[in-house]
Amino acid sequence: MNYYDQISEGYNNLHKEEQIKKVNEIIDELSITNERVLDVGCGTAFYSYLFKDYTGIDNSKGMLSKTEANVIHGEAESLPFEDKSFDVVISVTAIQNFTNIEKAIKEIRRVAKNKIAISILKRSKKLKEVETLLKDFKKIEEDKDIIFILS
Ligand SMILES: C[S@@+](CC[C@H](N)C(=O)[O-])C[C@H]1O[C@@H](n2cnc3c(N)ncnc32)[C@H](O)[C@@H]1O
Repeated sequence: MNYYDQISEGYNNLHKEEQIKKVNEIIDELSITNERVLDVGCGTAFYSYLFKDYTGIDNSKGMLSKTEANVIHGEAESLPFEDKSFDVVISVTAIQNFTNIEKAIKEIRRVAKNKIAISILKRSKKLKEVETLLKDFKKIEEDKDIIFILS
């Protein structure tokens, strides 16, 4: 059982409001309406109702068991999708947890048609690495996260 499997029970109560604020910011920035959206590291996907065409992927069965949204179990580092199969790919406060961030970003770029949004905790030790890998993205500062936007 991984860390997120263990905290899955209380996750929504702890983080719901702040995560919904970040997701709404991403929706505004990318002008997402009814496009096909993939969410990498979706967790409990409690904000999936904000999207018309949503697919989430996460490697914690515990987190996924808390949602009825359209989600699959899998790794960010090897996304089981064809090239350019999603109009938009988002990843919300999850990248600092990925085992191989460079590989995950390559995968996200591969499956996205054009729009990408990736957020990371400002206090994360991985922020510098992510900034270097996402040099071509616009940076938006939010309360707790930096959101990287490609549109
Ligand atoms: C802080 S939670 C964020 C969940 C959700 N995006 C949100 O905003 O509520 C981070 C998520 O990343 C997932 N995760 C960590 N490493 C992963 C990987 N290599 N592949 C897929 N998901 C991963 C965890 O299981 C966890 O659900």
